[in-house]
Amino acid sequence: MPLAGISHDAEGMGSRGEKQGMHMATPSTDRRIDKLIHLLVKNAMVVVPGPKIASEIGVTRFKVWEWIEKLRALGMEIRGVPAAGYQLMKIPDLLTPSLVRPELGAQTIGHVIVHYFRTESTNDVAFELAAEGAEHGTVVVAEEQTAGRGRLGRAWHSEKSSGIYMSVILRPPLAPTAAPVLTLLAGVAAQQAVISSTGLAVDIRWPNDLLVNGKKICGILTEMSAELDQLHAVVLGIGMNVNHRQMPAELKSTASSLRLETNRAISRVQVLVALLRELERHYGLLLQEGSTAITERWAAASSFASGKRVRVATAAGDMLATTAGLDPSGALRLRRDDGREELLVAGEVVEVK
Ligand code: BTN
Repeated sequence: MPLAGISHDAEGMGSRGEKQGMHMATPSTDRRIDKLIHLLVKNAMVVVPGPKIASEIGVTRFKVWEWIEKLRALGMEIRGVPAAGYQLMKIPDLLTPSLVRPELGAQTIGHVIVHYFRTESTNDVAFELAAEGAEHGTVVVAEEQTAGRGRLGRAWHSEKSSGIYMSVILRPPLAPTAAPVLTLLAGVAAQQAVISSTGLAVDIRWPNDLLVNGKKICGILTEMSAELDQLHAVVLGIGMNVNHRQMPAELKSTASSLRLETNRAISRVQVLVALLRELERHYGLLLQEGSTAITERWAAASSFASGKRVRVATAAGDMLATTAGLDPSGALRLRRDDGREELLVAGEVVEVK
């Protein structure tokens, strides 16, 4: 399936011949394109001669011209100065490895970043990479998803270059039954990242939806490949609405974006870097201190942990209950009106006012 502005052959922007993208229906971004972006950013506001760019990234001058045209079509402001070269007019807010990796130091999560201008679902790509042996901490990130997946079989709205659509491959030394704590971990990490980059007040709705002023700004889909007693890989898929100027009509009443809540444009690079740092920090806490370090933090960070009146959809129909803390496994304790307590392991709760 050819994609707008990005073809799949050797003439396009994909990296079909590179190890990371070889097997995929859609190849990941060609490393030389990332080099081109990096070169322009490093020399921002300076006119860089076409032949210099061509020799530094190892392609022809024609190919440089062609890629610049495609980057322009993707929204990058690049001025062409006749007989002189190209000038980047504005630092792009792209999530390419060369713009994100240098901010992460030696941390493991994000040590390898596989970038796509467009792909179906970063979770699907992450699973394919994990099956091929991708290492712990590998991050797959896309500017746009054409088949982004949410929890409970829903679709995830993945508008081009507005949000963060990323998946992290984890290979934790945990039993499959202990994996749910990673879902809570991702929620707390994402909450901290949003708070530090925007100053917004962020709530977490069990298990890990981030809410600002009651509207969802981030969702997390945790999936794993495991055998009965062995966890092979966990994929944390995180979708965050960052610079959406408006949400689609059907989501408007329940979802929002960081831009809509702050009334200003937010750097996706800055939020992604904060998110990857927080994931690294909280993963370290989990390994050093155990799962209670995460469940305690989650309980302190969420108004849903205790005393919240909620509606829960169950196979037997809707049920009203009051939340009564987290079980050490990460399940939500619910107190029914007749006093009985139940543990909610999977599903969705909605606040009842
Ligand atoms: C939810 O329903 O709240 C979870 C949404 C998760 C969306 C993210 S976007 C990146 C990753 N790739 C996907 O297809 N889904 C997750």
